[in-house]
Amino acid sequence: MSRQVDYILQAGLALLLSAGIWKCVQHFPVTVFKQEQNFGCGTVSEYPAIEITNQSLANGKTLFMSKCASCHNMYKATTGPALVNFRERGKWSDNKELYAWIHNPSAYMKKDLYTASLKKQFGGQMMTAFPDLKPEEIDAICEYIEAGSK
Ligand code: HEC
Repeated sequence: MSRQVDYILQAGLALLLSAGIWKCVQHFPVTVFKQEQNFGCGTVSEYPAIEITNQSLANGKTLFMSKCASCHNMYKATTGPALVNFRERGKWSDNKELYAWIHNPSAYMKKDLYTASLKKQFGGQMMTAFPDLKPEEIDAICEYIEAGSK
């Protein structure tokens, strides 16, 4: 009798374990795919360099390189998400939301489910707050990112 109970317990445990593994396997490729789906079939290095055609694009590139590039690659998820086509995600089509996020990510995240879920995905490091970036500087960074999103 007790051997039967043992057997049932073990079978139950094995089932739970495989369900857990399946959850993980299911989760990872989906999130990786989401980050990479924008390249079409090209690879990161084949993606064309962004052409700098005006002053605000040049400013945007300088700001992006000095403040964001340490954690963000345009086309590949690194410490933070890939930023290509980021306007289509979350509330980022709204400049005010974006300014609030960049000025204070941890406060923003407390009342926003989307960025809280990003935190779970990129949990290793928290996005830096940039309270001193002016709206026009953030606009220039966006212009640079959007030029690479076309
Ligand atoms: C220290 C690393 C770090 C730096 C520097 C950084 N970020 Fe982030 N960023 C992150 C992480 C990590 C996330 C995901 C949310 C989280 O876990 O904080 C993120 C998320 C974002 C998102 C949301 C992306 C999406 O897919 O919806 C945007 C937009 C963004 N960052 C823009 C910027 C900009 C613009 C700069 C430069 C001014 C910048 N970040 C600098 C780490 C960083």
